[in-house]
Amino acid sequence: MKPYSIGQNVIIKENVTFGENVVIGNNVIIYEGVQIGDNVLIQDNVVIGKQPSRAKNSILPEVKKLPPTIIGSGCTIGTSSIIYANATLAEDVFVADLATIRERVTVGPQTIVGRGVAIENDCKIGKKCKLETNCYITAYSELGDYVFVAPCVVTTNDNYMARTKERFDKFKGVTVKDGGRIGANAIILPGKTIEEDGTVAAGSIVTKDVKKEELVLGFPARKIRDVPPEQLLRNQ
Ligand SMILES: CC(C)(COP(=O)(O)OP(=O)(O)OC[C@H]1O[C@@H](n2cnc3c(N)ncnc32)[C@H](O)[C@@H]1OP(=O)(O)O)[C@@H](O)C(=O)NCCC(=O)NCCS
Repeated sequence: MKPYSIGQNVIIKENVTFGENVVIGNNVIIYEGVQIGDNVLIQDNVVIGKQPSRAKNSILPEVKKLPPTIIGSGCTIGTSSIIYANATLAEDVFVADLATIRERVTVGPQTIVGRGVAIENDCKIGKKCKLETNCYITAYSELGDYVFVAPCVVTTNDNYMARTKERFDKFKGVTVKDGGRIGANAIILPGKTIEEDGTVAAGSIVTKDVKKEELVLGFPARKIRDVPPEQLLRNQ
């Protein structure tokens, strides 16, 4: 099937498949084999299916050609966003402008990936999450369902900060379980887990795991109280 409408200067490589009613803006590039579902809106300057390129001094292994990207039905891909090869977006994912979703990332249905958000390689994001403007999801992280990440949150995965060989098997992204919430500009240190409905106050540094239904705050973050019952996921 062909897209319902295509803008100017669009490049579509071999074996790309489209569902019904796909609308494509101007200056879009869709690489080989990408699968696009029904009712997908792809805005101007989007790149889908980009193969990762490797810097000469990168610690990542030599890149083989990755399988294609899958964009589920009902997704919107905002202006100037880049979705890498082997990323999979479920149905109705909304990607705002200028976002980057790297290789081997999966995003669950109805999740919102905000403006300028970066989701690094090998992350798993659940359903109905909200990742707000300019938050940074570090590689090898896992977010459950209904997770909220406020603007400019930074997650991290390398305590060795690019030094020593020892670090290679110690990279660890963050884990945020269902309903976990992180306030604006908070920092989550490598490998930390935020349990179900755990909540981090704005501007905090998380140096220890956050327990279920606890609200933590400060530098370093400490429990200040339980999350109010009316805010818990099960009471929504
Ligand atoms: C967790 C949070 C809701 C607590 O707010 P609150 O209930 O109004 O806080 P309180 O009024 O109970 O404040 C208690 C004390 O902690 C301090 N405090 C509150 N939030 C703080 C924070 N994030 N960091 C450091 N101190 C904080 C207050 O100054 C107050 O100190 P005091 O008793 O010495 O005066 C708030 O800190 C927060 O993180 N909000 C999230 C904002 C956000 O990121 N929204 C999503 C994107 S828009």
